[in-house]
Amino acid sequence: MELPKILGGEAVRKKPFPKWPIFDEREKELLLQALESGKWGVGGKLQEEFEKKFAEFQDAKHALLCSSGTTALKIALKALGISAGDEVIVPAYTFIGTAIAALDLHAKIIYADISLETYTIDVESVRNKITEKTKVVIPVHFAGRPADMDAVKEFAEEKNLSILEDAAQAHGAEWRNRKVGAIGDAGAFSFQSSKNITAGEGGAITTNDDKLASIIWSLRNVGRPRDGPWYEHRIYGWNYRITEWQAAILLAQLERAPKLMEKRDSSARYLDKLLTEVDGVEPLPNDPRVSRHAHHLYVFRYDPAEFNGLEKELFIQALREEGIPCNAGYRPLYSYSFLPGSSPLSNTEKAAYIEAVWIPQPVLLAEREDLEDIIIGIEKIKKYSRKIKEECKAIVGK
Ligand SMILES: Cc1ncc(COP(=O)(O)O)c(C=O)c1O
Repeated sequence: MELPKILGGEAVRKKPFPKWPIFDEREKELLLQALESGKWGVGGKLQEEFEKKFAEFQDAKHALLCSSGTTALKIALKALGISAGDEVIVPAYTFIGTAIAALDLHAKIIYADISLETYTIDVESVRNKITEKTKVVIPVHFAGRPADMDAVKEFAEEKNLSILEDAAQAHGAEWRNRKVGAIGDAGAFSFQSSKNITAGEGGAITTNDDKLASIIWSLRNVGRPRDGPWYEHRIYGWNYRITEWQAAILLAQLERAPKLMEKRDSSARYLDKLLTEVDGVEPLPNDPRVSRHAHHLYVFRYDPAEFNGLEKELFIQALREEGIPCNAGYRPLYSYSFLPGSSPLSNTEKAAYIEAVWIPQPVLLAEREDLEDIIIGIEKIKKYSRKIKEECKAIVGK
């Protein structure tokens, strides 16, 4: 077997994996339509059309566009009544925006640990931390895999909490045949550049609750009522609106989404099968209640013990040098000095520092023989793991 690139050999991959984002004539056609409409912001028809279609796509009564996934979370939390001093439960293993949304409202956050079977929230880990100030729990559908919504709902009912689903990565995902986003009280989506449906930036809030939808409409539009004069502001809100350009692109992306979802799903299943054949790497176990995984990321577990103790960071660096896009993923949120601290949460620590390896979704749009290169790369690194450990130093943070 050839030496790995990190030790001076040749990389497995000579050609790149598919690029993201992708677009075709449809985006151009709709962009031109937006341009010629003369409504580039408020009142744009493509925004309304997207909201309607996205709500249908997510099985929600309402979908409301806004500027980002982070602002979607913030608007939804405010609409759910969160104010200074209230407590919001967030997994410590998530994107920083989940926490920032709550902290921006001067709420406190309670960090939940995750399950190592799913890397999504384990509500039992916060059972003893709930107080009368705890108002909302945010399950994150990490990587596009719905969190255990049965457990979240049961817990929320018992503790009288609202549920805000962080579905930033989970367009089209389903928990027991129900689309995410309106299983709880509200859901937040992101359309940032890496997302499976993207306009570069953007977000949306979904809900089945008419009253909540009306508050959300107003919150993203500086507190204006839907039918009032321009300079009437009934509540404290923000300009978290979106442009018609983004809506044009989003409409085209949404049309393409079902086909790409199929493709990612079949690639993920194939990768699951391939990974199972190598000791020391394994897919996360499937759960039949996840009736649709959105595969925003393909996440697998790495076991350094099977690779002569080669640290995750160095394994990832070596795999990247083979031409396989991958990264180490999140740090625990409490490890950031400017966020609230916590004693270490064992599963979060394990996922972050020892075992979780992320492959971004465009890789899943490749062909089968391209996916096989991932395994060839991993096997090469495994064979030379002792030598890599001895001779190479991780470039931390790469
Ligand atoms: C889990 C999660 N929550 C929230 C966000 C925030 O979305 P945005 O980057 O659009 O603000 C993201 C995306 O980056 C995310 O992955």
